Amino acid sequence: MLHKLFLTLPLLSLICLAVASPLEPRAPVPGLIDALLNGVLSTIGQLIKDVLNGVKSAQSGEISTKPLICLSSVDKCCIWYDVSKDLTGRFKGADGQCNDNARAAIRMGFHDAGAWDKYSTNGGADGSLLMDFGEIDRPENNGLQSIRLILREVQQKYKVGYADLAQFAHNHATVTCPKGPRIRTFVGRKDATKAAPKGLLPDVHDSADNLIQLFANKGFSAHDLAALVGAHSSAKQRFVEPAKANFPLDTTPGIWDVNFYNETLQKPRDERIFVLPSDEVLSVHPKVNDEWKSFVGNQPHWNEDYAKAFVRMSLLGVDNVNALSDCTRTLPVARPNGK
Ligand code: HEM
Repeated sequence: MLHKLFLTLPLLSLICLAVASPLEPRAPVPGLIDALLNGVLSTIGQLIKDVLNGVKSAQSGEISTKPLICLSSVDKCCIWYDVSKDLTGRFKGADGQCNDNARAAIRMGFHDAGAWDKYSTNGGADGSLLMDFGEIDRPENNGLQSIRLILREVQQKYKVGYADLAQFAHNHATVTCPKGPRIRTFVGRKDATKAAPKGLLPDVHDSADNLIQLFANKGFSAHDLAALVGAHSSAKQRFVEPAKANFPLDTTPGIWDVNFYNETLQKPRDERIFVLPSDEVLSVHPKVNDEWKSFVGNQPHWNEDYAKAFVRMSLLGVDNVNALSDCTRTLPVARPNGK
Protein backbone atom coordinates (compact mmCIF):
# COMPACT_ATOMS: atom_id res chain seq x y z
CA MET A 1 0.00 0.00 0.00
CA LEU A 2 2.73 2.43 1.11
CA HIS A 3 4.81 1.33 -1.86
CA LYS A 4 1.98 2.32 -4.24
CA LEU A 5 1.64 5.72 -2.57
CA PHE A 6 5.36 6.48 -3.10
CA LEU A 7 4.99 5.59 -6.78
CA THR A 8 1.95 7.85 -7.32
CA LEU A 9 3.30 10.93 -5.43
CA PRO A 10 5.77 12.09 -8.13
CA LEU A 11 3.04 11.59 -10.73
CA LEU A 12 0.59 13.69 -8.71
CA SER A 13 3.07 16.55 -8.38
CA LEU A 14 3.69 16.47 -12.14
CA ILE A 15 -0.06 16.80 -12.72
CA CYS A 16 -0.20 19.73 -10.24
CA LEU A 17 2.67 21.46 -12.07
CA ALA A 18 0.88 21.06 -15.37
CA VAL A 19 -2.36 22.50 -13.91
CA ALA A 20 -0.54 25.56 -12.46
CA SER A 21 0.42 26.93 -15.86
CA PRO A 22 2.93 29.79 -15.98
CA LEU A 23 0.22 32.10 -17.32
CA GLU A 24 -1.86 31.70 -14.19
CA PRO A 25 -1.55 34.73 -11.81
CA ARG A 26 0.17 33.57 -8.65
CA ALA A 27 -0.52 35.01 -5.21
CA PRO A 28 2.63 36.47 -3.61
CA VAL A 29 4.35 33.95 -1.37
CA PRO A 30 3.80 34.75 2.30
CA GLY A 31 6.79 35.10 4.62
CA LEU A 32 9.28 37.55 6.04
CA ILE A 33 11.52 39.67 3.81
CA ASP A 34 14.63 37.86 5.10
CA ALA A 35 13.69 34.83 2.98
CA LEU A 36 13.79 37.01 -0.15
CA LEU A 37 17.25 38.28 0.66
CA ASN A 38 19.09 35.06 -0.14
CA GLY A 39 20.93 33.96 -3.24
CA VAL A 40 21.97 36.44 -5.93
CA LEU A 41 21.05 39.99 -4.91
CA SER A 42 21.08 43.27 -6.80
CA THR A 43 23.10 46.15 -5.30
CA ILE A 44 19.92 47.46 -3.70
CA GLY A 45 18.92 44.02 -2.41
CA GLN A 46 22.36 43.70 -0.79
CA LEU A 47 22.05 47.17 0.76
CA ILE A 48 18.64 46.31 2.24
CA LYS A 49 20.01 43.03 3.58
CA ASP A 50 22.98 44.84 5.17
CA VAL A 51 20.66 47.42 6.76
CA LEU A 52 18.32 44.77 8.17
CA ASN A 53 21.29 42.82 9.53
CA GLY A 54 22.84 45.91 11.11
CA VAL A 55 25.93 45.76 8.85
CA LYS A 56 25.08 49.20 7.42
CA SER A 57 23.27 52.12 9.04
CA ALA A 58 19.57 52.51 8.31
CA GLN A 59 20.11 56.27 8.18
CA SER A 60 21.93 58.17 5.49
CA GLY A 61 23.07 61.76 5.11
CA GLU A 62 23.47 61.42 1.33
CA ILE A 63 21.87 64.50 -0.19
CA SER A 64 21.70 66.16 -3.59
CA THR A 65 19.68 68.80 -5.39
CA LYS A 66 17.71 67.83 -8.46
CA PRO A 67 20.03 67.69 -11.48
CA LEU A 68 19.24 70.33 -14.13
CA ILE A 69 18.53 67.55 -16.56
CA CYS A 70 16.80 64.69 -14.76
CA LEU A 71 15.58 61.84 -16.94
CA SER A 72 12.95 59.78 -15.14
CA SER A 73 13.61 56.89 -17.50
CA VAL A 74 17.18 56.72 -16.14
CA ASP A 75 16.86 58.16 -12.62
CA LYS A 76 13.80 56.90 -10.72
CA CYS A 77 14.40 59.58 -8.07
CA CYS A 78 13.77 62.63 -10.36
CA ILE A 79 10.13 63.10 -9.39
CA TRP A 80 10.84 62.59 -5.69
CA TYR A 81 12.87 65.82 -5.50
CA ASP A 82 9.63 67.64 -6.41
CA VAL A 83 7.50 65.57 -4.03
CA SER A 84 10.01 66.22 -1.25
CA LYS A 85 9.90 69.99 -1.74
CA ASP A 86 6.11 69.93 -1.75
CA LEU A 87 5.90 67.85 1.44
CA THR A 88 8.27 70.18 3.30
CA GLY A 89 5.74 72.98 2.79
CA ARG A 90 3.01 70.74 4.23
CA PHE A 91 4.89 69.09 7.13
CA LYS A 92 7.01 71.91 8.60
CA GLY A 93 5.38 74.53 10.84
CA ALA A 94 6.34 78.21 10.98
CA ASP A 95 8.16 77.43 14.26
CA GLY A 96 10.45 74.95 12.44
CA GLN A 97 8.87 71.97 14.18
CA CYS A 98 6.88 69.17 12.57
CA ASN A 99 3.15 69.81 12.48
CA ASP A 100 -0.12 67.84 12.61
CA ASN A 101 0.22 66.76 8.95
CA ALA A 102 3.67 65.34 9.68
CA ARG A 103 2.53 63.32 12.68
CA ALA A 104 -0.44 62.00 10.72
CA ALA A 105 1.90 61.04 7.84
CA ILE A 106 4.09 59.12 10.29
CA ARG A 107 1.05 57.18 11.47
CA MET A 108 -0.14 56.72 7.88
CA GLY A 109 3.16 55.07 6.87
CA PHE A 110 2.75 52.63 9.74
CA HIS A 111 -0.95 51.87 9.17
CA ASP A 112 -0.44 51.24 5.47
CA ALA A 113 2.57 48.94 5.88
CA GLY A 114 1.61 47.40 9.22
CA ALA A 115 -1.61 45.75 7.97
CA TRP A 116 0.35 42.61 7.10
CA ASP A 117 1.88 39.59 8.79
CA LYS A 118 4.02 36.66 7.67
CA TYR A 119 0.91 34.62 6.81
CA SER A 120 -0.56 37.32 4.52
CA THR A 121 -0.65 37.06 0.74
CA ASN A 122 -1.47 40.76 0.32
CA GLY A 123 -1.32 43.96 2.36
CA GLY A 124 1.83 45.59 3.72
CA ALA A 125 3.51 48.62 2.17
CA ASP A 126 1.26 48.66 -0.88
CA GLY A 127 -0.57 52.00 -0.62
CA SER A 128 -3.95 50.31 -0.08
CA LEU A 129 -4.91 52.74 2.69
CA LEU A 130 -4.43 55.70 0.34
CA MET A 131 -6.35 53.97 -2.45
CA ASP A 132 -10.08 53.32 -2.81
CA PHE A 133 -10.55 50.02 -1.01
CA GLY A 134 -12.47 51.44 1.96
CA GLU A 135 -9.71 50.87 4.53
CA ILE A 136 -9.95 54.48 5.67
CA ASP A 137 -13.39 53.66 7.14
CA ARG A 138 -11.96 51.05 9.49
CA PRO A 139 -12.07 52.33 13.11
CA GLU A 140 -8.30 51.89 13.63
CA ASN A 141 -7.67 54.39 10.82
CA ASN A 142 -9.79 57.12 12.34
CA GLY A 143 -7.83 60.38 12.32
CA LEU A 144 -6.03 59.60 9.05
CA GLN A 145 -8.75 61.00 6.75
CA SER A 146 -7.17 64.42 6.32
CA ILE A 147 -3.60 63.22 5.60
CA ARG A 148 -5.05 60.67 3.16
CA LEU A 149 -6.70 63.43 1.17
CA ILE A 150 -3.50 65.51 1.24
CA LEU A 151 -1.37 62.60 0.01
CA ARG A 152 -3.90 61.73 -2.68
CA GLU A 153 -3.62 65.31 -3.91
CA VAL A 154 0.18 64.91 -3.99
CA GLN A 155 -0.22 61.61 -5.86
CA GLN A 156 -2.46 63.25 -8.46
CA LYS A 157 0.02 66.08 -8.95
CA TYR A 158 3.19 63.99 -9.35
CA LYS A 159 1.73 60.65 -10.51
CA VAL A 160 3.89 58.62 -8.12
CA GLY A 161 2.86 55.23 -6.76
CA TYR A 162 0.59 55.18 -3.70
CA ALA A 163 2.70 52.52 -1.99
CA ASP A 164 5.92 54.52 -2.37
CA LEU A 165 4.22 57.78 -1.43
CA ALA A 166 2.91 56.44 1.91
CA GLN A 167 6.45 55.38 2.91
CA PHE A 168 8.22 58.41 1.41
CA ALA A 169 5.85 60.72 3.33
CA HIS A 170 6.59 58.86 6.58
CA ASN A 171 10.35 59.20 6.06
CA HIS A 172 10.02 62.82 5.01
CA ALA A 173 7.98 63.57 8.14
CA THR A 174 10.44 62.01 10.59
CA VAL A 175 13.37 63.99 9.21
CA THR A 176 11.23 67.15 9.10
CA CYS A 177 10.87 66.87 12.86
CA PRO A 178 13.89 68.44 14.61
CA LYS A 179 16.25 65.61 15.76
CA GLY A 180 14.41 63.08 13.53
CA PRO A 181 16.25 60.26 11.70
CA ARG A 182 16.94 60.44 7.96
CA ILE A 183 15.78 56.93 7.14
CA ARG A 184 16.96 55.16 3.97
CA THR A 185 14.14 55.59 1.52
CA PHE A 186 13.38 53.15 -1.27
CA VAL A 187 10.94 53.46 -4.17
CA GLY A 188 9.60 51.08 -6.80
CA ARG A 189 6.97 49.17 -4.80
CA LYS A 190 3.87 47.75 -6.48
CA ASP A 191 0.53 49.34 -5.64
CA ALA A 192 -2.24 47.25 -4.06
CA THR A 193 -4.96 45.50 -6.02
CA LYS A 194 -7.22 44.98 -3.00
CA ALA A 195 -7.71 46.00 0.64
CA ALA A 196 -5.23 44.83 3.27
CA PRO A 197 -6.34 42.00 5.58
CA LYS A 198 -8.23 43.08 8.70
CA GLY A 199 -7.15 42.72 12.31
CA LEU A 200 -3.40 43.20 11.86
CA LEU A 201 -3.02 46.68 13.38
CA PRO A 202 -2.52 47.00 17.15
CA ASP A 203 -5.38 47.68 19.56
CA VAL A 204 -4.56 50.37 22.10
CA HIS A 205 -6.23 48.33 24.88
CA ASP A 206 -4.51 45.01 24.11
CA SER A 207 -2.08 43.31 26.51
CA ALA A 208 1.66 43.77 26.09
CA ASP A 209 2.08 40.04 25.37
CA ASN A 210 -0.46 40.19 22.53
CA LEU A 211 1.11 43.34 21.09
CA ILE A 212 4.56 41.76 21.19
CA GLN A 213 3.19 38.68 19.39
CA LEU A 214 1.36 40.81 16.81
CA PHE A 215 4.63 42.58 15.93
CA ALA A 216 6.64 39.33 16.07
CA ASN A 217 4.38 38.00 13.30
CA LYS A 218 5.50 40.94 11.19
CA GLY A 219 9.19 40.21 11.86
CA PHE A 220 9.82 42.65 14.73
CA SER A 221 11.46 41.82 18.06
CA ALA A 222 10.20 43.25 21.36
CA HIS A 223 13.15 45.67 21.20
CA ASP A 224 12.11 46.77 17.69
CA LEU A 225 8.64 47.42 19.09
CA ALA A 226 10.12 49.53 21.89
CA ALA A 227 11.85 51.64 19.23
CA LEU A 228 8.82 51.85 16.92
CA VAL A 229 6.31 53.11 19.49
CA GLY A 230 8.74 55.96 20.13
CA ALA A 231 7.01 57.54 17.12
CA HIS A 232 4.54 58.61 19.81
CA SER A 233 7.21 61.21 20.67
CA SER A 234 5.68 63.30 17.87
CA ALA A 235 2.05 62.36 18.45
CA LYS A 236 -1.30 63.50 19.79
CA GLN A 237 -4.45 61.54 20.63
CA ARG A 238 -8.06 62.40 19.87
CA PHE A 239 -10.13 59.25 20.07
CA VAL A 240 -8.82 57.18 22.97
CA GLU A 241 -10.05 59.76 25.46
CA PRO A 242 -12.10 62.38 23.60
CA ALA A 243 -12.28 64.57 26.72
CA LYS A 244 -8.52 65.00 26.32
CA ALA A 245 -8.54 65.45 22.54
CA ASN A 246 -5.29 66.86 21.13
CA PHE A 247 -3.30 66.03 24.25
CA PRO A 248 0.24 65.20 23.12
CA LEU A 249 1.85 61.87 24.05
CA ASP A 250 4.92 63.71 25.36
CA THR A 251 5.63 67.35 26.26
CA THR A 252 7.39 68.09 22.92
CA PRO A 253 5.20 66.69 20.08
CA GLY A 254 6.86 68.93 17.45
CA ILE A 255 10.28 67.43 18.15
CA TRP A 256 11.47 63.87 17.55
CA ASP A 257 13.16 63.47 20.93
CA VAL A 258 13.53 60.85 23.65
CA ASN A 259 11.44 62.75 26.23
CA PHE A 260 8.63 60.32 25.40
CA TYR A 261 10.56 57.38 26.91
CA ASN A 262 11.35 59.24 30.11
CA GLU A 263 7.97 60.88 30.53
CA THR A 264 5.94 57.66 30.14
CA LEU A 265 7.95 56.08 32.98
CA GLN A 266 7.52 58.99 35.40
CA LYS A 267 5.07 58.70 38.31
CA PRO A 268 3.32 61.03 38.87
CA ARG A 269 3.08 62.05 35.23
CA ASP A 270 3.25 65.50 33.72
CA GLU A 271 -0.41 66.53 33.52
CA ARG A 272 0.00 68.02 30.06
CA ILE A 273 0.54 64.61 28.42
CA PHE A 274 -1.64 61.60 27.69
CA VAL A 275 -0.13 58.12 27.94
CA LEU A 276 -1.74 55.48 25.72
CA PRO A 277 -2.75 52.30 27.64
CA SER A 278 -0.60 50.29 25.18
CA ASP A 279 2.51 52.41 25.87
CA GLU A 280 1.79 52.07 29.58
CA VAL A 281 1.81 48.25 29.51
CA LEU A 282 4.66 47.95 27.01
CA SER A 283 6.99 50.31 28.87
CA VAL A 284 7.04 48.05 31.95
CA HIS A 285 6.92 44.66 30.21
CA PRO A 286 10.04 42.59 31.02
CA LYS A 287 10.83 42.03 27.30
CA VAL A 288 10.56 45.76 26.54
CA ASN A 289 11.44 47.70 29.69
CA ASP A 290 15.26 47.38 29.45
CA GLU A 291 15.30 48.70 25.89
CA TRP A 292 12.75 51.40 26.75
CA LYS A 293 15.02 52.65 29.53
CA SER A 294 18.09 52.46 27.28
CA PHE A 295 16.53 55.10 24.99
CA VAL A 296 16.13 57.60 27.86
CA GLY A 297 18.76 60.30 27.27
CA ASN A 298 20.18 58.43 24.23
CA GLN A 299 18.85 60.00 21.03
CA PRO A 300 21.42 58.39 18.64
CA HIS A 301 20.59 54.90 19.95
CA TRP A 302 16.86 55.41 19.47
CA ASN A 303 17.19 57.06 16.05
CA GLU A 304 19.28 54.19 14.68
CA ASP A 305 17.02 51.49 16.15
CA TYR A 306 13.90 53.26 14.90
CA ALA A 307 15.35 53.73 11.42
CA LYS A 308 16.38 50.08 11.20
CA ALA A 309 12.96 48.83 12.34
CA PHE A 310 11.19 51.22 10.00
CA VAL A 311 13.18 50.12 6.95
CA ARG A 312 11.74 46.68 7.66
CA MET A 313 8.27 48.18 8.18
CA SER A 314 8.44 50.07 4.89
CA LEU A 315 9.13 46.80 3.05
CA LEU A 316 6.50 44.54 4.64
CA GLY A 317 4.88 42.47 1.90
CA VAL A 318 7.14 43.97 -0.79
CA ASP A 319 8.34 41.13 -3.03
CA ASN A 320 10.44 43.05 -5.57
CA VAL A 321 13.19 44.29 -3.23
CA ASN A 322 15.93 43.70 -5.81
CA ALA A 323 14.25 46.11 -8.23
CA LEU A 324 13.86 49.07 -5.85
CA SER A 325 15.81 52.36 -6.04
CA ASP A 326 17.39 54.28 -3.16
CA CYS A 327 16.06 57.87 -3.25
CA THR A 328 17.17 58.94 0.23
CA ARG A 329 19.16 61.77 -1.36
CA THR A 330 15.91 63.60 -2.22
CA LEU A 331 14.92 64.04 1.46
CA PRO A 332 15.49 67.28 3.40
CA VAL A 333 18.63 67.51 5.51
CA ALA A 334 18.44 66.15 9.09
CA ARG A 335 18.64 68.54 12.03
CA PRO A 336 20.26 66.46 14.79
CA ASN A 337 20.75 69.52 17.01
CA GLY A 338 17.11 70.45 16.65
CA LYS A 339 17.90 73.73 14.85
C1 HEM B 1 1.47 49.00 20.10
C2 HEM B 1 1.45 49.66 18.98
C3 HEM B 1 0.65 50.93 18.77
C4 HEM B 1 -0.57 51.28 19.23
C5 HEM B 1 -1.52 50.47 20.10
C6 HEM B 1 -0.85 52.61 18.75
C7 HEM B 1 -2.00 53.33 18.99
C8 HEM B 1 -2.17 54.67 18.70
C9 HEM B 1 -3.30 55.46 19.08
C10 HEM B 1 -4.52 54.92 19.82
C11 HEM B 1 -3.08 56.73 18.68
C12 HEM B 1 -3.99 57.94 18.91
C13 HEM B 1 -5.00 58.08 17.79
C14 HEM B 1 -5.95 59.20 18.11
O1 HEM B 1 -6.68 59.10 19.09
O2 HEM B 1 -5.95 60.22 17.36
C15 HEM B 1 -1.80 56.74 18.03
C16 HEM B 1 -1.24 57.86 17.47
C17 HEM B 1 -0.08 57.83 16.74
N1 HEM B 1 0.68 56.72 16.46
FE1 HEM B 1 0.48 54.91 17.26
N2 HEM B 1 0.21 53.02 18.00
C18 HEM B 1 1.14 52.02 17.98
C19 HEM B 1 2.33 52.01 17.28
C20 HEM B 1 2.73 53.03 16.46
C21 HEM B 1 3.83 52.94 15.56
C22 HEM B 1 4.69 51.70 15.34
C23 HEM B 1 3.92 54.15 14.92
C24 HEM B 1 4.88 54.60 13.86
C25 HEM B 1 5.89 53.91 13.46
C26 HEM B 1 2.89 55.00 15.46
C27 HEM B 1 2.70 56.31 15.14
C28 HEM B 1 1.72 57.12 15.68
C29 HEM B 1 1.66 58.56 15.48
C30 HEM B 1 2.67 59.42 14.74
C31 HEM B 1 0.51 59.00 16.12
C32 HEM B 1 -0.02 60.44 16.19
C33 HEM B 1 -0.99 60.70 15.06
C34 HEM B 1 -1.50 62.12 15.09
O3 HEM B 1 -1.20 62.88 16.02
O4 HEM B 1 -2.23 62.48 14.13
N3 HEM B 1 2.17 54.27 16.36
N4 HEM B 1 -1.28 55.48 18.04
